[in-house]
Parts: sequence; C-alpha cells; structure tokens
Amino acid sequence: MFFNDRHEKHVDTQSIELDSERIPKHIAIIMDGNGRWAKKQNLPRVSGHQRGMEVVKDITKAASDLGVKVLTLYAFSTENWKRPDTEVGFLMKLPGRFFDTFVPDLIANNIRVNVIGYIDQLPKHTQKAVNKAIEQTANNTGMVLNFALNYGGRAEIVSGVQQIAQRVLKGEIKPEDIDEHLVDQSMMTSSLEYADPDLLIRTSGEERLSNFLLWQVAYAEFVFVDEHWPEFTPAVLKRTIMTYQSRHRRFGGLAENKSDQK
Ligand code: IPE
Ligand code: IPE
Ligand code: MG
Repeated sequence: MFFNDRHEKHVDTQSIELDSERIPKHIAIIMDGNGRWAKKQNLPRVSGHQRGMEVVKDITKAASDLGVKVLTLYAFSTENWKRPDTEVGFLMKLPGRFFDTFVPDLIANNIRVNVIGYIDQLPKHTQKAVNKAIEQTANNTGMVLNFALNYGGRAEIVSGVQQIAQRVLKGEIKPEDIDEHLVDQSMMTSSLEYADPDLLIRTSGEERLSNFLLWQVAYAEFVFVDEHWPEFTPAVLKRTIMTYQSRHRRFGGLAENKSDQK
C-alpha cells in the first residue's frame, strides 16, 4: 500500500494502527460538499448543511479521543455571503442549533470552543450562540474546537498588517522589529497553543484552499478526500491521519530517514 501522494488510498482502517506518538496536534478541515451531497439525494442544499452539522459532532469526539489538540473547522468563509439569502440564513442558525444540543458533550469531553473570523459581522443571534458556548466551555483544558466563522485568510492578513502598522505609528515598534513571530501574534490563531495546522483535510474532491489559513498552512500536510462532508466518518479521519503519518515532513531540512537523503 502506498500513501505517499496527495490523495489518500482506500485502506482497511481496522487493520492498521495509528502511531499514537505522531497524531497531528492541529488538524484543520475544509468541510466541503454539503450541497452536492444533498443534490445526490434529491434533497435541498440546506439538508446537506444539517447533516454536516451532525458529522461535526462525530468528528469532534473522534479527534478528541485520538488526542488531537486543536481541530479547526472551516464553517463559513468571508466569500460565502455571495450565496442566496435563504442558504446564508440557514447557515447562520446552525451554531445555535449545534451548541444547544452539543455543549453538554463538549463539557463531558473537556473540549473548549474557540472562534476565528469576523464575529461582529454575524447576525446578533449567531454571535450570542457562539459567545455563550465559548463562555460555557472556557474552563475546559482538553482539545480546542476552533470554528472559522466568517473567516478569510486574506482579510486576516490585512487586519494583522493594519494592527502592526498602528503599533509602528504609535512608536511602540520599529519596522525592523517586524518578524515572523510578530506576524504570528497578529493572526487570529495567536491565542492557540498550536496555531499552525499539521494536517489540512479538504473533503469532496476539490483541491484548493479557498482562502483558508493562508499564513498558517506554510508547512501543513494536505490530504484531499473524495467523500463529501456529510459522508465523512471517524474511519475516514483515521485514514487521513494514516496518510499523514506516511509522509516525511522535512521543513526545508533533510529527512531523518537516511534513505531519503540521497
Ligand atoms: C460546505 O459545503 C459548507 C459551506 C461552504 C458552508 P458547500 O455548501 O460548499 O457544498 P458544495 O460545495 O456546494 O457541494
Ligand atoms: C470553502 O468552501 C468554505 C467552507 C467550507 C466554509 P466553498 O464551497 O465556499 O469554496 P469554493 O467556493 O468551492 O472555493
Ligand atoms: Mg463548496
């Protein structure tokens, strides 16, 4: 079996054990294909989003059980406002529905909710649901469930650059003080212990970033799966982690395995 290309191979997940020492600390997922999944079942697009919300619950628990430290889920992009009002309206109701039913499980599993994105631009009821869940789980010390909501990587970089420029203007820092660490600190992920994803997954066969975590994915491993998000399961998650564990991360250096250094 080979796992060494960008696509993972279909393998029997029961028969292969994951290396518990090399579980990705931060997994980021572009949850794509809800609409196409619904269309395949002759259902309206929003049914795909509804089903997708249930999948988020399963995958959150599975990732936490595997020992993942941060799970970032792309739920709504700064570009998704282009969709019809009815679809946007439905998507904005999902956080309320999700947290209403799932916060007890999050607490039972010691999972803390965090959000990145322009929350103040969301409808008031959505902001309220999100802020309440953040408060209710604030003392949890296990995995961080990090939702990207009204998030865009370019907008994030623009906001970060503006913050830095303001600090220069106030004389707090000099232009030559600007380094990678300072830029990291200006990103929306700065409060996370593991800000950069180790593994980035996109479902539904699309192979693009769609403005997700542009700064943070510099050295992430990408795995693309054909399943639409409503079809994603803990077994598929395990498969993607197997693919991740078969990769050789070099970060510009040389692989530890001598045979890779020829
Ligand atoms: C992902 O599924 C969910 C969101 C972007 C909110 P899509 O809604 O993009 O589904 P497709 O890609 O149209 O099938
Ligand atoms: C990316 O999916 C955004 C989310 C999953 C929230 P899209 O479906 O919006 O991306 P494009 O339009 O296919 O690039
Ligand atoms: Mg899509």
